[in-house]
Amino acid sequence: MADRYDVVVIGAGPGGYVAAIRAAQLGMKVACIEKSRTLGGTCLNVGCIPSKALLDSSELYHLAKHRFGHHGIKVGGVDLDLPKMLARKDGIVKSLTDGVAFLLKKNNITPYFGTARLLGSGSIQVTGEKSTELEAAAIILATGSEPTPLPFLPFDGAQIVSSTEALAFDHVPNQLVVIGGGFIGLEIGSVWARLGAKVTVLEFLPRLLPLNDTEVASALTKSLQKQGLDIRLETKVTGATKKAGEATVHAEQGGKKIDFQGDKVLVCVGRRPYTGGLGLKETGVQMEEKSGRVNVNDRFETSVPGVFAIGDLIRGPMLAHKASEEGIAIAELLAKKAGHVNYNTIPSVIYTHPEVAAVGLTEEQVKETGKKYKVGKFSIGNTGRAKCLDETEGFVKILADAETDRILGMHIIGPRASDLIAEGVLAMEFFASAEDLARTCHAHPTLSEAVGEAARAAWAKAIQA
Ligand code: NAI
Repeated sequence: MADRYDVVVIGAGPGGYVAAIRAAQLGMKVACIEKSRTLGGTCLNVGCIPSKALLDSSELYHLAKHRFGHHGIKVGGVDLDLPKMLARKDGIVKSLTDGVAFLLKKNNITPYFGTARLLGSGSIQVTGEKSTELEAAAIILATGSEPTPLPFLPFDGAQIVSSTEALAFDHVPNQLVVIGGGFIGLEIGSVWARLGAKVTVLEFLPRLLPLNDTEVASALTKSLQKQGLDIRLETKVTGATKKAGEATVHAEQGGKKIDFQGDKVLVCVGRRPYTGGLGLKETGVQMEEKSGRVNVNDRFETSVPGVFAIGDLIRGPMLAHKASEEGIAIAELLAKKAGHVNYNTIPSVIYTHPEVAAVGLTEEQVKETGKKYKVGKFSIGNTGRAKCLDETEGFVKILADAETDRILGMHIIGPRASDLIAEGVLAMEFFASAEDLARTCHAHPTLSEAVGEAARAAWAKAIQA
């Protein structure tokens, strides 16, 4: 006899495990199926968390080597202990993935370790150590995404790698060629550049980060170039030749053929929904042909009754926190509550140095709406805290409607932009005006004063400018 649940979630990433917990909190009997031996999905195992662990470690290494002197701290030889750095990262991953297992247990969610396949509405086959069949009133697909390979340059796991392997190189590459100047390329490229690799980023488009505000993207490009990253825009990769220990990446730049040598090549040209083996086609779950994303309505329902999908599998940015929001919303909708995701206030963060964070519309997007708008900008370096930190690069930019003063977007480049953006998200969630934010008291001395000043600049005039 099949095990019966109210909800079965397929995938234990930040979409799936959060959906499972919220559904359990709301009184449903829940199971969660995961094909990996550890819970937490891409984000915890091979994505957000390990990359941030290495970004933080490599940043400290860089500071110790190049910036401590400026603070009056003399250090002897600063050496890299890469195995220890990698072990610290693995320890963080383990503590967090164990934490997810603990949370599932605490919420009485039954985990199944194995590969799930839909058999139809309400029925799932799990193939693993113990194969079994489950029945559920609702099935939530939350299987996430996988790196997209280049057709002419397949991953080999050693020289031509995806982000997964690039987070665990056992030595610092001499020459790392990064194909794709997106979130992954810039973050992982930064890690290895700080640790001593020569990093070349090949980007097909005429600019980095096409979805970010142009002004911010160009400030980041200049900053990364100053840090030594060789960024080649309008560079189309056409192929590669591999020899023992080295790859030659062939590309075209401005109509000319050009080769780039690297002992490691990181291909990060996007991710695609992970639906392999799920039995979606066989059971009639409709997907977009080109992108492979699962079609859902605004209640996350697929074309098959009782089957829902969230996270990287469906439309929208492939971000862990977006998946988690959808996980909470679907659980609440299943409990007949008003689950809802406000897609206008999903922040994005790039953990480079300086960090980049954004919420809402870019200036280019505001222009497209035809609305009259105001821009308030404030240099982070003008705050006392930034000077004390010796982190004076960057600015906060706030876009507000010229008629209503409502905040339309916030864009930050600078130290702790990842944390500062939370204020912009909250402001937009509550439909705040630039004046609301300007009249909000910001502690002194903090970096958040730059947010207050940018709001004041959008509404009236900054004080410290
Ligand atoms: P991406 O979509 O961010 O960037 C890929 C880049 O590769 C684009 O700029 C594209 O123009 C370029 N490209 C595509 N084909 C190319 C070619 N043949 N030659 C040269 N350039 C080419 O994808 P990425 O960096 O792989 O990240 C995947 C997903 O993971 C994204 O959706 C991102 O949002 C998410 N992610 C989020 C992070 C964060 O929130 N901090 C960190 C890492 C990933």
